[in-house]
Amino acid sequence: MEDYNRNTPILRTEISGLIMPNPTMLASGILGSSASMLKEVADSGAGAVVTKSVGLKPSSGYPNPTLVQVDCGLLNAIGLPNPGIYKFAEEIKDLRDLRIPLVVSVFGFSPEEYAEAAEIACDAGANAIELPLSCPHVKGTGSEIGQDPEMVKRVVRLVKGSINRPVFAKLTPNTASINVLAEAAASAGADAITAINTIRAMAIDIETCMPILANKFGGLSGAAIKPIAVRCIYEIYRAVDIPIIGCGGIRTWMDAVEFMLAGASAVQIGSAIALEGLSVFKSICDGLCVYLERKGFRSVKEIVGLAHKK
Ligand SMILES: Cc1cc2nc3c(=O)[nH]c(=O)nc-3n(C[C@H](O)[C@H](O)[C@H](O)COP(=O)(O)O)c2cc1C
Repeated sequence: MEDYNRNTPILRTEISGLIMPNPTMLASGILGSSASMLKEVADSGAGAVVTKSVGLKPSSGYPNPTLVQVDCGLLNAIGLPNPGIYKFAEEIKDLRDLRIPLVVSVFGFSPEEYAEAAEIACDAGANAIELPLSCPHVKGTGSEIGQDPEMVKRVVRLVKGSINRPVFAKLTPNTASINVLAEAAASAGADAITAINTIRAMAIDIETCMPILANKFGGLSGAAIKPIAVRCIYEIYRAVDIPIIGCGGIRTWMDAVEFMLAGASAVQIGSAIALEGLSVFKSICDGLCVYLERKGFRSVKEIVGLAHKK
């Protein structure tokens, strides 16, 4: 297997000082809850990994059913189950030899909780912190905080003041103007924007006549949300001057190129892994290389935001 960690300078990129061998990343919440799984993802060719979101205290999440496959996507309301940042810190310490950047996703129910969890994650070896200001189905955190630009500013400012690593603000598409949220995050010092998290949605079983998810509402991901994500990246690119990490329905190298043309410097992949396995990183990198060479580009950085210049 081609080693994308060494042999492909055309794909090498950088986000806020983090050097990545290629622009693909594992999205938060898929395979990111243990050191062994994160190592497996790194070995499969990802350019960086993001962990499952972790809060200060352990949580068991919602009862089943928490995940359902729908047309062109997945609908989940898992409820942010996690072991708590203190226990997770022990897990992260095993990842010092990962060879690619380790981004730890931390959440809280107040700006202070986000900041405390971020500090502990950095002490344990996180290379960057992602703030999920965007989970659409847990009360008191996620999009409940992230739909309010003032709260976005407070969280980002406090976290930035507490740690000395890059901070990525992960935004929700469940808002009228995602560019306003991006401006708020950037003005508070975010080093990059991750967009998008899932879209609030639901499914009803016509035999039981009841909502399928135990939580009733969940977040939609996968191919169904890709055009919404591309639109969000395009709008954010026009609004702020910091790098964007694109996410939402990416499965093929063509999807990755589309996100980068809209303005993403890197792309995260979530649902496609659940549906197709870990070979997705290698197939995206292979296709991206061939595309760049065919078009005469010398670096993947040259296509970022190109759709705005035409
Ligand atoms: C099962 C599942 C669990 C997720 N858990 C998290 C999470 O803990 N934190 C987070 O920021 N996003 C979480 N997400 C959202 C993904 O990181 C991503 O933003 C979203 O799924 C869109 O990308 P995709 O279409 O490639 O899956 C989760 C998504 C799924 C499908």
